[in-house]
Amino acid sequence: MRSFLSERAKNTGKSSIREILEISKKPGVISFAGGLPKPETFPFEDLAEAARRQIGENYRQSLQYGITEGVIEFRKEMIDWLSNFGWSIKLDNIIATNSSQQALDLVSKAFLDPGDVLFCGLPTYAGAIQSFQLFQARSVGVPMESDGMNLNVLEEEIRRVERTGRQAKFVYVIPDFQNPTGVTMSGRKRKKLVKIAMEYDLLIIEDTPYFGLRFEGQEERPINAYDNEGRVITMSSLSKVLSAGMRLAVVVGPENLIDALVTVKQATDLCTSTTTQWIALEWMQNHELSEHLAQARSHYRQNRNVILEALERFFPDDERITWTRPEGGLFIWVTLPEGVNTDELLFDALENKVAFVPGSGFYVNDGGKNSMRLCYSVLQPDEINEGIKLLAEVVRRHLSAASPAREE
Ligand SMILES: Cc1ncc(COP(=O)(O)O)c(C=O)c1O
Repeated sequence: MRSFLSERAKNTGKSSIREILEISKKPGVISFAGGLPKPETFPFEDLAEAARRQIGENYRQSLQYGITEGVIEFRKEMIDWLSNFGWSIKLDNIIATNSSQQALDLVSKAFLDPGDVLFCGLPTYAGAIQSFQLFQARSVGVPMESDGMNLNVLEEEIRRVERTGRQAKFVYVIPDFQNPTGVTMSGRKRKKLVKIAMEYDLLIIEDTPYFGLRFEGQEERPINAYDNEGRVITMSSLSKVLSAGMRLAVVVGPENLIDALVTVKQATDLCTSTTTQWIALEWMQNHELSEHLAQARSHYRQNRNVILEALERFFPDDERITWTRPEGGLFIWVTLPEGVNTDELLFDALENKVAFVPGSGFYVNDGGKNSMRLCYSVLQPDEINEGIKLLAEVVRRHLSAASPAREE
C-alpha cells in the first residue's frame, strides 16, 4: 500500500521527550524528567464544587457550544488577573484556547508558510519546535544567556537571513523561567526585543506558562506591555497555575492578528471547551488566583533550594560544570563539559535508577549534547537528594570517560 501521510506528517518527528517520560516511569526510578506541575497545587476540592454547580445548574451554557473567541465572562476574569501585572487588555484583544499548545498550533497555522523562518532560543521548548516543524518552517536558534536570548546574535541572524533574500516571520520567546533553562529575560532585553521587532518588521510570540510562579526576585512586565505597535502575541496558560487537565489558556494580541487566529481556530475546533471555561470562571470569581499561588510558589521554592544544595553537595567539583539558578518555575539546566553526551549518559542514569531529559531535544540544531534539564516540581526533598546523588555518580563516570586527564 502507498503511504497516505502528508509531507508535513512524514517530516515531523515524534517527541523524543515524551518517549523518555514513558521510560522514566519505571518503578523505583527517581525522575527529574517530567515537566508536570505538582497535583497538590491544583485547588481540586473547590474545582470539584465549581464543576458540580456549573454542570448541574448552568448546563445551558457550560455544556453547550460557545463562541470561538471564548466565554466573555471568562475572558473578562482573565483580563482582571493579568491587570495585576501592569497590563491593560481590551476584550477584543484576548481569546481563550485549549491551552498554550493549541495557541502554538494556531500561530503556526496562521503565520507560517513552508520554508518561512522564525527565531527561537537555543535551547527552547520542544513542543514549540515540533509545532513549527509540522508547518515546515525553518527554526533558527539563538543562544540563551543568563538574562535571556542573546539579542546581538539575534540581530546578526536576522541580517543573515535577510541577505539570503528571505524575511523571517517572528521571534518565539519564553521570557519567564524558560522551559528548559529556568532563565528569565531581563526588563532591558524585553524592551530591546520589541525595538528589534520594530526595526526588522517581525512579530514576537511570547509564551509564558510559568508566569505567576515567581518565588524570588523582582516581577518583570510581559513583553506585550512594552509593545505600542501591535507586534506581540502572548499566550498565558492556566496549566501550571490552576490545572493542566482543564487545558485552558488565553492569547492576547492586536485585534487584526487575534482575528486571524480566530478564523484558524474556527476550522480547528470551533471553540474552546465551554465546560472548563465556566468552571475556571466560577473558581476565579470566588478565589484570588494570586493568593492561591502563594502555596505553589512556596513549594517550588523549597524544592529549588533543595536541588541547588544537592547539586552543590554531590556533583563533581569541576568549573566546567554549571547550572542555572531559576527565580521561579519548575526547571534547572545543567551544562557538563564538552564531549560528555547526555543522550548516552541517560542510559546509564536509568540503570542507576534516575532520569532526566537530555538537552539535545530542546535544540533546533545539533547542539545541547552536553546538557540536561532537571525538573524539581513533583519530587519530595529526600527524593531530590537521593536522585542528585545517583545522577552525580553517573556524571562522574562519564567525565573521566570524556577527558581522562581531568582531576576533580
Ligand atoms: C513553554 C511552554 N509552552 C507551552 C506549554 C504547553 O502548555 P499547555 O499545557 O498550556 O498546553 C508548555 C508546557 O510544558 C511549556 O513549557
